[in-house]
Amino acid sequence: MTKPEASPAGLLEILREKATPLGPWGDAVASVRRELFLPDEIEVGDELVSRATSPARWLEVAYSDVSVTTQVNDGRPTGPDEYRLPTSSSSQPSVMLEMLSLLDVQPTDRILELGSGTGLNAAWLAHRVGSDRVVSVEFDPVLAEQAAKNTQAAGLSPLIVQGDGEQGRPTGAPYQRVIATYAVTAIPYAWVEQVAAPQGRIVAPWGGSFFPYSFAVLDVRDGRAEGRFTGYPAFMRSRNPRPARGFLDDFLHHREAADATATSLSPLRIAQDPDALFYVGLALPDAWHLPVPADDGSGEMTLWILADDRTSWASADYAPDVGDYAVTQYGPRRLWDEAEAAYRTWEALGRPSRDRAGLSVAAEGQRVWLDTPEHPLSALTDPPPHRRICD
Ligand SMILES: C[S@@+](CC[C@H](N)C(=O)[O-])C[C@H]1O[C@@H](n2cnc3c(N)ncnc32)[C@H](O)[C@@H]1O
Repeated sequence: MTKPEASPAGLLEILREKATPLGPWGDAVASVRRELFLPDEIEVGDELVSRATSPARWLEVAYSDVSVTTQVNDGRPTGPDEYRLPTSSSSQPSVMLEMLSLLDVQPTDRILELGSGTGLNAAWLAHRVGSDRVVSVEFDPVLAEQAAKNTQAAGLSPLIVQGDGEQGRPTGAPYQRVIATYAVTAIPYAWVEQVAAPQGRIVAPWGGSFFPYSFAVLDVRDGRAEGRFTGYPAFMRSRNPRPARGFLDDFLHHREAADATATSLSPLRIAQDPDALFYVGLALPDAWHLPVPADDGSGEMTLWILADDRTSWASADYAPDVGDYAVTQYGPRRLWDEAEAAYRTWEALGRPSRDRAGLSVAAEGQRVWLDTPEHPLSALTDPPPHRRICD
């Protein structure tokens, strides 16, 4: 089979081969040239690609179904040994299409996008419903300006403004559709207020630090947004506030002073079960997890749990054929104990799958529930204070 050419038509061919549902978006993919939205220096995975020195590779990446990092560390110059936090990207086209399909855009909709990035998604939206129906908000002023230039180069002119997506964009409301392309721990009520009920919809990557890998798909009526979770998107987190990230060593300290205990709960039962990760994540919105498999073929794995504020950390070591697993914890919180307690709560609920969970957003805040809004998951989302802080 010949390789698809590095062009919009080639990208369309790749997406069709992957059986990506294109819905009404095929024309936008074919008409809007992704290369107009990418800077000359891009990253895909660990590979840095320069348009000047590798033009063919650069173009191949532009028309591949991959997420392309377009900015790291907010655009600050970054040394070779420094941690590279991706801070903006052109999302993977098949994931953009998945989101747009969830958004269920109608031709006469007004649409608010939060997180303009390169402007490509705003351009696809503008191509479909008309530039005058699309508003996009980007936190980074340099990116916002560049995104506006990119869309203009593609012959489109959605309104792209600098701002904090948290506030939505009241000027221009109401919208029928709101789409965020960065992950949020909580859906801001401002978005709900700016959506026209009863046919409004919000789609956003949702979740706290432990598991920010779900799309929340919410319908708006009677001053509330309500819906469920789907997909496994990996989007960057909101910049405001953005939790600190870095190398594992940046989060580890006082290793000699840490408490050593053991648990009968295999860390694999959390780390390898997306439903467990989702429900445990409800209890740990402010700590992330990092599974590190041993590279010696032993099958061992360490599950690290690291507080966003870097005060506390925990590890649980998996090894095959053992009954108890070593746990090490340091800091004002006992993060493994918190994760294990959340796992046990999930077990006591009968180990529900994620698709039984739902989310309601009202003026008072958001609530996660099981099966129906009458059954809030407060046992996970509102843990008692004594479980969170140890003496
Ligand atoms: C995955 S990229 C967006 C991809 C983009 N939609 C595209 O088509 O290229 C996420 C973007 O969200 C922006 N962002 C993060 N937090 C934000 C916030 N609170 N308000 C507005 N934009 C934000 C980032 O600066 C980044 O450019």
